[in-house]
Amino acid sequence: MKKLRVGVVGCGSIAKFRHLPEYHANQNVELVALCDIVQERAEHASEHYGGGKVYTDYKEMIDREELDIVSVCTPNYLHAPVSIYASKAGVNVLCEKPMATSKEEADEMIAAAKEAGKKLMIAHNQRFVPSHQKARQLIESGEIGKIYSFRTAFGHPGPEGWSVDGKDSWFFRKEEAFIGAMGDLGVHKSDLMRYLLGEEIVEVGAFIETSAKQNTDVDDTAVCVLKTENGIVGTLAASWSYKREDNSTIIYAEKAVLRLEDDPTHSLVVQYATGETVRYELGRIQSNESGGQTGSHVIDHFVASIIEDTEVLVDGNEGKNSLMVILGALESNETKKIVNIKNDLN
Ligand SMILES: NC(=O)c1ccc[n+]([C@@H]2O[C@H](COP(=O)([O-])OP(=O)(O)OC[C@H]3O[C@@H](n4cnc5c(N)ncnc54)[C@H](O)[C@@H]3O)[C@@H](O)[C@H]2O)c1
Repeated sequence: MKKLRVGVVGCGSIAKFRHLPEYHANQNVELVALCDIVQERAEHASEHYGGGKVYTDYKEMIDREELDIVSVCTPNYLHAPVSIYASKAGVNVLCEKPMATSKEEADEMIAAAKEAGKKLMIAHNQRFVPSHQKARQLIESGEIGKIYSFRTAFGHPGPEGWSVDGKDSWFFRKEEAFIGAMGDLGVHKSDLMRYLLGEEIVEVGAFIETSAKQNTDVDDTAVCVLKTENGIVGTLAASWSYKREDNSTIIYAEKAVLRLEDDPTHSLVVQYATGETVRYELGRIQSNESGGQTGSHVIDHFVASIIEDTEVLVDGNEGKNSLMVILGALESNETKKIVNIKNDLN
């Protein structure tokens, strides 16, 4: 089989720790082009991952390379323009989260991919985490009964220890990031809860602050209350002010409490109402703290979906609906009202 031709736009941290090594390890693809506005980053990626051609302009790369796949690993404000340009050129797009900076952008990305007849996937890796997949099974099969409530959190000390540009990163500039911890971490959890519960979040209330970081015009600490279409209520916290990482989710159901990524050894703990507790050791979640971002299955899943022409787990509509929860939270924080996002969902 001819290998799929891959180009990566943005050769910073998520490219380095996930996209590049995972494409490199996949036998069905070839990393033929690397693009970054900082040329040395693209050169470095090329040197380490197969010698692909180096670009500083993504349009030039897409125009010239006859790509099958583009990974969009740029700052948030470029997700929509790069994805749309690639879709219009007939390329399958794997775009990092948050999908876009507005509903309109997300809609345009979906439309462009649809029109081209190509795939668009949003890289919500939390769906592929083994504890999350096991919890999804327990919920979907009805084993833990009706779900009443949840709390989910994603917090760590912030992107200065992660982004290739450290404390000078685009993550802290509203013009490029659009949102702070809510876009970086909160959207992971709105997507995760929609996936786990198998239903849409339709109402959102939020307090969103900038409390821990100086010299930034984006948020760093948020707590939201969420309600699903069937009346499950819960909280979502996203923060760059947690001195140690919290990436946990607790689900309170009729027959059990599920503790996901809450115990350092057992990534899923099921505490049944009968008194029995089952502890699963399923492998660790990708974490900034451990530096371990590979083995996410995101790239393998996307490549397989193209080769086998199967549905992607997180398509544009999914990415958009997870984004809408975050946009609803921003609106709630502004207006001091609970926001109903039902009519904005796909
Ligand atoms: N799925 C996850 O778990 C996860 C984790 C971290 C980051 N991300 C997402 O990945 C994206 C990138 O984040 P990061 O952590 O790699 O940031 P980063 O700051 O480490 O890297 C961003 C890179 O993009 C480059 N860039 C900027 N403008 C460009 C342009 N016009 N063309 C080409 N390259 C350009 C920068 O030079 C830099 O090398 C963000 O959207 C972020 O939210 C996802």
